[in-house]
Amino acid sequence: MRRLKINIENLSKSFSGKNVLKKLNLKVYESESLAIIGESGSGKSVLTKCIDGLLDYDSGFISYDKIRNIKELNSKKKNAYMTKFGILFQNAALFDSLTIEENLRFAKKDCDLSKILVDVSLPKSILQEYPSNLSIGVQKRIGLARAILKDPEILILDEPTTGLDPIIGRQIILLIKKLVKKNKITTITVTHDMESVYEFSDYTAFIKNGKISWYGKSKDILKSRNKPLINFINGIY
Ligand SMILES: Nc1ncnc2c1ncn2[C@@H]1O[C@H](COP(=O)(O)OP(=O)(O)OP(=O)(O)O)[C@@H](O)[C@H]1O
Ligand SMILES: [Mg+2]
Repeated sequence: MRRLKINIENLSKSFSGKNVLKKLNLKVYESESLAIIGESGSGKSVLTKCIDGLLDYDSGFISYDKIRNIKELNSKKKNAYMTKFGILFQNAALFDSLTIEENLRFAKKDCDLSKILVDVSLPKSILQEYPSNLSIGVQKRIGLARAILKDPEILILDEPTTGLDPIIGRQIILLIKKLVKKNKITTITVTHDMESVYEFSDYTAFIKNGKISWYGKSKDILKSRNKPLINFINGIY
């Protein structure tokens, strides 16, 4: 039985007159892995930021467990709400002037960093390094370590494989898959990488013109008759 975790109804968000999300509807179920795909600029990152509370939306609602509409939370409750999320940002977003250890302790002061490094398959010596000395693949692993440090209920991964070669990209996906399955974390992954969608995400939502144009099991994407979706995954615009 699927258990509804997040319910998004009629969500709208615009930036200076540009409507990015237009009465969008989407449901996220507990312990499932959902992929969000769509053209560049279609609003994938904006949608995840509305969900995790980093952006306010204009209208519609997002409910989470028993919270009716996260927009109505006062600032104290909103802060508590935001701690439910672990986020791997599109560019890993580590602090350049801090070492890896400082970056991780900034997220959670008292924690066993050796354990988390084992989880993301990195050596302890990495803690003394600065982000700029590390490859993008390693930075993403650190970003992932930071995202899971606080045992989040929801993990948001914004393009976890972008900028990585196919081998490192696959390693990251397998790593995430292992961590997510082990901890039964609900995951929302924004990606352009269809291989990782088939490998990792149970369900997929395709965003087009500010709405979810297709939603279903990832393994059914290729059977879909949704023309924009088929064109998108075949790279036809
Ligand atoms: N803070 C902001 N202020 C103004 N416009 C914004 C802001 N954030 C996003 N936008 C606009 O909203 C639209 C959707 O952006 P978003 O970053 O969600 O796209 P995306 O689907 O994640 O694209 P990509 O695949 O390139 O990451 C874009 O036109 C973008 O310029
Ligand atoms: Mg984006």
